[in-house]
Amino acid sequence: MTNRHPDTFAGSQAPVPGIRAIQESLGETSRYPLNVEAYEDLGDEDIPFTRYTSTEFFAREMDKVWTKTWQWACREENLRDVGDFVVYDIGNYSIIVVRAAPGEIKAFYNSCMHRGTKFNHSFTSGHRQIIACPYHGWSWKLDGTINEIPSQWDFPHVDENDVRLAEVRVETWAGFVFINMDPNAPSLHEYLGVTVDHFKNWGMEDRYTTIHIQKELACNWKGAMEAFMENYHTHVVHPQLNITSSGPQTQYDLFGDHMSRFLCLQGNPDPVFERQLSEAEKLDTMLMGDRSLASGGPKIEGNATARATMANYLRKHFDEELDVEVGDLTDSEILDTIEYTIFPNMFIFPGLSLPMVYRFRPIGNDPDRSLFDLLYLRPIPRSGESPHSAEPVRIGVEDSYTSVPNMDPGMGHVYDQDTDNLDLQQQGYYTAKKRGGTLGHYQEIRIRHLHQTLDKYLER
Ligand code: FES
Ligand SMILES: [Fe+2]
Repeated sequence: MTNRHPDTFAGSQAPVPGIRAIQESLGETSRYPLNVEAYEDLGDEDIPFTRYTSTEFFAREMDKVWTKTWQWACREENLRDVGDFVVYDIGNYSIIVVRAAPGEIKAFYNSCMHRGTKFNHSFTSGHRQIIACPYHGWSWKLDGTINEIPSQWDFPHVDENDVRLAEVRVETWAGFVFINMDPNAPSLHEYLGVTVDHFKNWGMEDRYTTIHIQKELACNWKGAMEAFMENYHTHVVHPQLNITSSGPQTQYDLFGDHMSRFLCLQGNPDPVFERQLSEAEKLDTMLMGDRSLASGGPKIEGNATARATMANYLRKHFDEELDVEVGDLTDSEILDTIEYTIFPNMFIFPGLSLPMVYRFRPIGNDPDRSLFDLLYLRPIPRSGESPHSAEPVRIGVEDSYTSVPNMDPGMGHVYDQDTDNLDLQQQGYYTAKKRGGTLGHYQEIRIRHLHQTLDKYLER
């Protein structure tokens, strides 16, 4: 992967406004990995709409991608005690992830070894010491070995080793529990590659879930993801954000097959604002993530910039009021929209004031439906008392994010704006005369990267 400035990418004279401005304005205050640029031109072919609508294409994704890749199933915080379990569903596959022993997490196909019944309903979680089938009562210990076969005299032909629960691979990173159905896949660390290095100062393992919303969407999983991989839509879909961040001044990077990211500064109004905002006005526009963090009202002093003022205010607020160790996080790491995407379907925002995690996946065997998990992960206080993890709240296609308790109303509105377009796009795929989507060379590069990685898996 080359580290080439986007202004110079081959085959196009298109100017890329403002990318240099990001790195220049961060200057000395930035550090690895946010000071790295890793853009590469990946071509300009249209992306066929059938990739979002065809049941045949969907079946190939199931066969070659969802059953072969590492996917984030839950957080370790969801499996605190031995016996805690979470059901992770992907398409028609359903997997029970369980704390089998204090230092051990296991995952099993959610299907009975007698006649196939699911042990637990999809999208549920809970606690059990024995995995028992609700149909005829066969049961297993948490390590997957058989516990009991009722009327065992009737099954002299059944070897207990043959009816151990079928396992799925589990590995953990940064407090996230991942599963992989492919016994021959590389290790999670190998799969994540440089991502592990990027995250080493960000303490994702010391965070907990303060909000978790699962929204049903009437669109393909990729169409849903793509709405969050570029900032090109922001000037139309979220005009209220132009005052604090600039769509065209967003940096896009690609790292290997499995990771891409964008970086967009807060307190950096879009050039659409012809009038220069004062630092006090900029300060007022920042903190899109959760206004409750700024309840005390930071004020500009002397010649301080809005960004430095807000970063210092948050350092103090986290340290003194929330009892959180902020460490040596830079202003950018505290304030900015830093979005990483890990193939196939996970997004992590390591920043402190915008601490979201997303996951997109198909619902059942339907290319027209998907589920969008949105979590906020806030740091655990120094006391070490890990507060209660928020349970998922599931909302339907027509429901607003603002209806969910504890959701910041401003951010709820932003997510409504994003998701309101998705069924229109899915319907548009079917009625299109044009056969595919056209992508910008720079701002939509992460979408092309997603499709090219997808193709690498589909061709295996
Ligand atoms: S199907 Fe599970 S015990 Fe019969
Ligand atoms: Fe958006």
